[in-house]
Amino acid sequence: MTPLLDAAEQLGREELAVLQLARLRATLRHAYDQVPFYRQAFDKAGLRPEDCHSLADLARFPFTAKADLRDNYPFGMFAVERSEVRRIHASSGTTGRPTVVGYTEKDLDTWADLVARAIRAAGGRPGHTVHVAYGYGLFTGGLGAHYGAERLGCTVVPASGGMTARQVRLIQDFEPEIIMVTPSYMLTLLDEFERQGVDPRTTSLRVGIFGAEPWTEEMRREIEERFAIDAVDIYGLSEVMGPGVSFECVETKDGLHISEDHFYPEVVDPFTGEVLPDGEEGELVFTSLTKEAMPVVRYRTRDLTRLLPGTARAFRRMEKVTGRTDDMVILRGVNLFPTQIEEIVLRTPGVAPHFQLRLTREGRMDALTVRAEARALAGPEVREDAARAIAAAVKDGIGVSVKVEIVDPETLERSVGKIRRIVDLRD
Ligand code: DLL
Repeated sequence: MTPLLDAAEQLGREELAVLQLARLRATLRHAYDQVPFYRQAFDKAGLRPEDCHSLADLARFPFTAKADLRDNYPFGMFAVERSEVRRIHASSGTTGRPTVVGYTEKDLDTWADLVARAIRAAGGRPGHTVHVAYGYGLFTGGLGAHYGAERLGCTVVPASGGMTARQVRLIQDFEPEIIMVTPSYMLTLLDEFERQGVDPRTTSLRVGIFGAEPWTEEMRREIEERFAIDAVDIYGLSEVMGPGVSFECVETKDGLHISEDHFYPEVVDPFTGEVLPDGEEGELVFTSLTKEAMPVVRYRTRDLTRLLPGTARAFRRMEKVTGRTDDMVILRGVNLFPTQIEEIVLRTPGVAPHFQLRLTREGRMDALTVRAEARALAGPEVREDAARAIAAAVKDGIGVSVKVEIVDPETLERSVGKIRRIVDLRD
């Protein structure tokens, strides 16, 4: 039986801090020596790697942004010879150039260890079968989950995304205990189980490890209830590694423990860049502590969360990510995130957990229409009540007026990976 905690998970806070500082100093030195971008940025700030005497000193160093990675496309951020790079992943790059990331053999080894740690925290054990329905390819989800599950000693079904009817067949035939998939694609699978006349509560699945996009406690309840499984969160981003930067523990389900032995988190004010104390909400920033191929120093994730003390582990937790600065809609001066609408839609009787946000321009004002799908048996009256209830909840809870359309079942676009909630129809 694998021990439930690996060695680093058992470190106390003080031992962890000592390890982090040593690794941080080595990372700053490695970045400065090997990557012209970091050398210039540190020089401009008048700093040398050895000026970092404590973890708090990191705050004096400059940030790295996604634009810096794009500007150094494709391999300008790499800190090792090309021949040392064993694998490359890249972001989709829907806006402009993709961001490219690289891994040495040791980086891939660490990544597999950390995803194995996350699956174990979710309740996975050697011998379990893991159905991976994150997309395989340049996206880090599929391969990241895959090697982590193998590292733990699981049997992997590399289903990837798409071909939904076949996914349902594979789950019934191969009887996995665990599924790793985006929460929105899990809902697509749910529809398909029902379409095939299979009760999703009767499958072999016991645990779902969901990430790659924001999802709410309401969505957790919906998925847990409909599939009779435990649903836990996994977070990561390709620039920092991929899935497994932080992970939820099944025994507490209270936010994501950050693998702080490999990633140093900060939360900063998104406008001023000032470091905020633990407990305050702001933008999450990561510095890698062990990465060889592509160290990142103070990388701004644009994800909004808070740092909290550890519970099931000594590592600090981050609260479930409620939104990205990129996904924030500003409507007549009010900030709104798709997750806020998700909470409301999922609480409303008569509507299915499928919704979309349409942004339009009316005169000089932006307008938002929430389109939510009716549940199969919801008649006209139920639909009207639902529309009214959603509009009222948005007005009361968020403070802004929106239009609500309840559309027929099975009419909104379904996710096969990361879902796009906002459809921007403004010019
Ligand atoms: O989405 C890595 C990943 C794959 C994580 C599978 C978990 C599971 P990227 O494509 O680079 O990498 O996108 C990273 O996705 O900055 C967040 O905005 C969002 N994100 C990832 N996980 C979560 C999560 C992968 N659990 C971006 N909750 C991140 C909320 C998440 N948002």
